[in-house]
Amino acid sequence: MPLSIDLYFTFPQKSSTWRGANVVLIDVLRSTTSICHGMAAGCSRILPAADLGEVTELVESLGRSRVLLGGEKDARRIPGFDLGNSPDEYADPRIKGQTVVMLTGNGTVALARLRHQRVVAITALVNLGATARWLAGQEGDVVIICSGNREQFCLEDGLCGGMLVRRLLDAWPEREPLLNDAARVGLALAERYGANPRACLEESTHGRGLLTLGYGADLERCARVDELDLLPFYHDEQITLRPPALEMEVEEATAVGEDQRQSEAERRENQETA
Ligand code: MLT
Repeated sequence: MPLSIDLYFTFPQKSSTWRGANVVLIDVLRSTTSICHGMAAGCSRILPAADLGEVTELVESLGRSRVLLGGEKDARRIPGFDLGNSPDEYADPRIKGQTVVMLTGNGTVALARLRHQRVVAITALVNLGATARWLAGQEGDVVIICSGNREQFCLEDGLCGGMLVRRLLDAWPEREPLLNDAARVGLALAERYGANPRACLEESTHGRGLLTLGYGADLERCARVDELDLLPFYHDEQITLRPPALEMEVEEATAVGEDQRQSEAERRENQETA
């Protein structure tokens, strides 16, 4: 049976389970970009929350001193939280070894809605290549979900989804996957903005809002395609670099996570010394 690639520009109304499919979540501005940076900086796990009530529950069960709270409301850091939602804050070495409870307007809410999935890959422009490589090695259909913004289409997520579809088509010339309509529109966005994603981010509604609030550096950081060679996974209600243990033994999955972090650290070190 031919493989399908379905792109969703906003979170689908029907909460399907996409049994057997490989599910990807995108929130370029800024949650999934920040999560990737947190994982690259050595954060041990991120627990996405759907609302403040869930944050409180997690804090009560884990202990306030044992977690960092990260997230935003209307793009700004939530009062009392340790981190906002800027990738730079998550790239900070102080995040190493920490558990972060994270709440954002759209990204973590979408993740919480996907908590019953076997696994969800966390994708942004910064780790497009690592996502495409993982997907290309999997069996099963591909479901790419854009977080969007308050149920609205977001240009930057659509671009990232389209660029991912493009990479998969290039990786699978012989498989001729079936594309849904949104995946075809995503390809057109990739054609339009692929060479200059920063322009897309700057033209997007959310990007313009962030620029007005003085978050221009975040846009620049979120537009860096393939800056990170790692892929965070969400399963068992937490985000780590470990693929789900269903596909492999827990020890092996843990080793894959560690390998991802190690090779990303080495790659960066080489880049810095070059
Ligand atoms: C979100 O999840 O709504 C976004 O990441 C918003 C933001 O840019 O902080």
